[in-house]
Amino acid sequence: MDALLKTIQDRAGSDPVRLGLILGSGLGHLAESVEGVAIDYGDLPGFPHAGVSGHNPKLVIGQLEGVRVAVFGGRAHYYEKGDPTAMRLPLEVLKALGAEQVLLTNAAGSLKDGMGPGELMLLSDHINFSGRNPLIGEATDARFVNMTDAYDRQIRAALDAAARAAAVTLHTGVYAWYSGPSFETPAEIRALKVLGADAVGMSTVPEVILARFLGLKAAAVSVVTNMAAGMSSEVISHAHTKAMAPIGAAKLEQVLRQYLQGL
Ligand code: HPA
Repeated sequence: MDALLKTIQDRAGSDPVRLGLILGSGLGHLAESVEGVAIDYGDLPGFPHAGVSGHNPKLVIGQLEGVRVAVFGGRAHYYEKGDPTAMRLPLEVLKALGAEQVLLTNAAGSLKDGMGPGELMLLSDHINFSGRNPLIGEATDARFVNMTDAYDRQIRAALDAAARAAAVTLHTGVYAWYSGPSFETPAEIRALKVLGADAVGMSTVPEVILARFLGLKAAAVSVVTNMAAGMSSEVISHAHTKAMAPIGAAKLEQVLRQYLQGL
């Protein structure tokens, strides 16, 4: 960790960052809005390799709307190697860089009529439908993380206000983590609806568990790229996810900029 931190701070300076931003599928270009230093994940031992197309595997540290941020242009997913701790090191680095909070973004399928492709959903809570947990094997009592209000109420209120100010509709709902990489079946989506999910995706949940474990405040926004399996005639695919994500990403950028201005 010390060597990693030194590599980053030698290149990007050692002023503390205020927050981290983890970008989801098709949202990686947001990193280009930051005025700062970009470091390839390949130069950061232990960081995930560029496993999924549509991501931009760089750590960018610099100013966005006058706030010093660390933007993770790509993430590792559980489905790549079956490792739910895949994002632990980047989150530990974020904490060591001085961040107090992490904002996570993802591409997701919608289970809610009236929340279609291109729409944004602020996560109020999640359902760990995968049953995997990144803290399995952690030896101390710190592993018993309280997940009530895991999605920070103050940050959520500020993001809601930012969306209103930016005139962007921000839905609120529960995100279910499905391991992937195959998409869900229509029967699984019906089951998830009964369980109370509003959106489904293949990331974010292990990262929020790790963030809370590390003492980082967390919030997350889904960019809806499709109606979930069985809910519409559109064909679900990763290519479709990547094609649709930029529509929501443009709105997300407006909300995030507005949020940062208010910090
Ligand atoms: N399911 C899971 N993950 C996703 C979806 C989906 O429908 N769309 C984008 N990511």
